[in-house]
Amino acid sequence: MADNKALKDHLNTLVATQGVLFTKLHQHHWYVKGNHFFTLHEKFEELYDEANDYFDEFAERLLTIGGKPYSTLQEFIDHSIIEESPYTNEVSQVDMVQSVLDDFDLLVKELYKGIELAGEAEDNVTEDLYIGYKTDLEKHMWMLRAYLG
Ligand SMILES: [Fe+2]
Repeated sequence: MADNKALKDHLNTLVATQGVLFTKLHQHHWYVKGNHFFTLHEKFEELYDEANDYFDEFAERLLTIGGKPYSTLQEFIDHSIIEESPYTNEVSQVDMVQSVLDDFDLLVKELYKGIELAGEAEDNVTEDLYIGYKTDLEKHMWMLRAYLG
């Protein structure tokens, strides 16, 4: 197998990011308000369930290829590519959806880099995992943009 240090670091960045994303999507699920409450409350739940699935998949793939996944909230915060903030002021439904879109956009760019790294490391299982998640995120982004009109 080719050298996979860069890929292991990349997987770990995604583990941290999924840890933060999971919590952020809960914040939206809990605090969303307005005429689309039922739709968005449910959509955010679907998205945090998916985020959790990939969180675990990435960590277990990292263990499988000889790495050590971050496993504390502090490490997730320190290494995530997305940022969280406390819910202090009311956020509109539109701004919440836009914030999910912004986070997914960052993730898609990170996955694009990861697909290249997995190719260089000749790790087609991780490459496939990344392509699968990127496919899912791009579809969500299309739907969320359609929702925003
Ligand atoms: Fe709930």
